[in-house]
Amino acid sequence: MSVSSEKAQRAPWRDRLDSHLKQTPGYEFTIATIGYDAQQRPVPRLRTCGCRGFFPELELHPKGQEAMDQQVEGGANPSIFESDMLTFTTDVRMEKLPQLESSGHAIEAMFWLKDVMTQWRIKGTAYAIGNPQGEDAEEGNSRAEVQRALRLKGDESDISKWTWEKAVTKYFANHSPVARGSFRNPPPGQSRSDYPNNPDLKLGQKVTDLHDPVARANFRVVIIRPEEVEELDLTDQENCKRRNWKLAGDRDDGTDLWNEIEVWP
Ligand SMILES: Cc1cc2nc3c(=O)[nH]c(=O)nc-3n(C[C@H](O)[C@H](O)[C@H](O)COP(=O)(O)O)c2cc1C
Repeated sequence: MSVSSEKAQRAPWRDRLDSHLKQTPGYEFTIATIGYDAQQRPVPRLRTCGCRGFFPELELHPKGQEAMDQQVEGGANPSIFESDMLTFTTDVRMEKLPQLESSGHAIEAMFWLKDVMTQWRIKGTAYAIGNPQGEDAEEGNSRAEVQRALRLKGDESDISKWTWEKAVTKYFANHSPVARGSFRNPPPGQSRSDYPNNPDLKLGQKVTDLHDPVARANFRVVIIRPEEVEELDLTDQENCKRRNWKLAGDRDDGTDLWNEIEVWP
C-alpha cells in the first residue's frame, strides 16, 4: 500500500471544520446524491445521516473499544493515517449507493451548525467500502480512490499491519448493538406488508458479534473525497462571511493544492 508522505498537508479548511464539529454536541449532516425519475431526468435526493468524522480516525466509545479488543484478532488498526475525507455509514440496500454509482459518485454534504452559526457545504465524490466478500471490482475501486487521499501520520513500518477490514469493523463497533441490528432489518424502503422470507431479517434485533454475517453483508462505510468546500459564517449578521476552497490539483510534493477565495455572501 502506498500513501502520501508524512509532509502532506491538511486541507486549509479542515481544522476549522473539525473545530466547529467539536463545538457542536451531536450533529448530523444532509447528504445529497443524484437520482433519476421515471422519465430518466436527473433529480436531487437528500437525507439526514450521522457524520462519523474524518476517515479513518474514530474515537470509539468504551463498549465499542471493548468489542474491538475482544473480537478482532490483533486489535484495531494502528493509528497511522488521517485524511480530509468525511464519513458516514449506511445500508447497502438503501438508494444512495446505486445513486452514487450511476452519477459518477457525485455527492454534496451540508451541515448547519447553529451553535457556531455556520453552514458548511462539501462537494465531491464518495465511495463505499466494506463488502465482506472482499475486493470485487467495486470495492477495489473504492479502496483505491480512498487510498489516494490518505495521509501517513504514523510509522511507515506499521502500514503492513493496517487493513481495510479492520477499518470498517471499527465503524461497525462504533454503533450500539441495536443500531448494528438495523443492518438485519427487513429491506429498507420496501412495503411493510411484504414479509421477508429470510427469518434473519427482523426489526429490533441487537447485534454484539462484530462479524455478524447478515448485518455485515449490508453494512458499508461511505467516504467523501472533497473537491470544493464552502463556509458561510453568519455570526455577524451585518458582515456575513463566505469563503470557498476549490481543489486545484497537486503541488510539486504531491500534496493537494486548494485555491481559497472570499466571496460576497
Ligand atoms: C437523525 C438521523 C440520522 C440518520 N443517520 C443515517 C446514517 O448515518 N446513515 C444512513 O444511511 N441513514 C441515516 N438516516 C436515515 C436516512 O435519513 C434515510 O432515511 C435512509 O438512509 C434512506 O435513504 P436512501 O434510501 O435515500 O438511501 C438517518 C436519519 C435521521 C433522521
